[in-house]
Amino acid sequence: MNSVQPQTSVWPPARAEAWEPEHREMLAGLARADLPRHIAVIMDGNGRWAKNRGLVERIRGHEAGIESVREITRTCRTLEIGTLTLYAFSKENWERPRFETTALMELLRRFSIDERGELMENGIRLLMIGDADDLPRRTRAAIDGTIKLTRDNTAMTLVLALSYGARDEMVRGVRKLAGEVAAGRLDAEAITPDSIDAALDTAGTPDPDLLIRTSGEQRISNFLLWQIAYSEILVTPVLWPDFRRGHLLEALTEYKKRERRFGRVDDLG
Ligand code: FPP
Repeated sequence: MNSVQPQTSVWPPARAEAWEPEHREMLAGLARADLPRHIAVIMDGNGRWAKNRGLVERIRGHEAGIESVREITRTCRTLEIGTLTLYAFSKENWERPRFETTALMELLRRFSIDERGELMENGIRLLMIGDADDLPRRTRAAIDGTIKLTRDNTAMTLVLALSYGARDEMVRGVRKLAGEVAAGRLDAEAITPDSIDAALDTAGTPDPDLLIRTSGEQRISNFLLWQIAYSEILVTPVLWPDFRRGHLLEALTEYKKRERRFGRVDDLG
């Protein structure tokens, strides 16, 4: 578990003083205890964003989406949210035209290098989930370099899901456990939900409390299937490149209203 949570005594956080009054007002309605510890986002709608602007190449939408990645990461850092997981590239996305996958891999490579300074200044650790073996060598080397550089940062964890598919993650996890059983190091009867947690790419990270999907589709798209068992799900029609701090604060205001029961009843009386 990633138990290191940023701690400040000040609420609202001093960093939010620079926000516009509208956002500070939204924040005033939220207490630290109202916030999720982990937010996961299915960043959807980049292609439609580009098309709506008459841009021929979908990659223009992905480029614009990077600014949302920056703003949402900064906002989570300011709000002291421990973990932000972004679904940046799925296993299935390899089926897209070669031009698009190559351009996305290059964007991710550049992002992981360009953001090093800001990640270090803000104590943000980068992690990746997904099948790293699928990534082009240069992209993988850049991401590995940033993961290594930021590994001792404790203020926040930014997790990029790259070449990620929940079923693929589960298959790889089950193989690990099966290998342990076959080698006689693990008794099949001793396998618990915690053993499965530990065999997944997300080992050590708390489950998401809030899952946001942008651009209106009401699907999970093979994202964190095991980990979102009790997550609150929020779908917004806003396309990812338009999704900014105000939209996140709206989502957090909605999250605050949700009653999380984890399968229990409220009042046993
Ligand atoms: C889905 O939109 C989005 C993606 C497949 C890629 C997301 C990537 C980014 C936001 C940029 C890079 C990310 C980081 C973390 C630096 P879509 O293309 O499926 O949109 P559509 O449904 O409108 O076609």
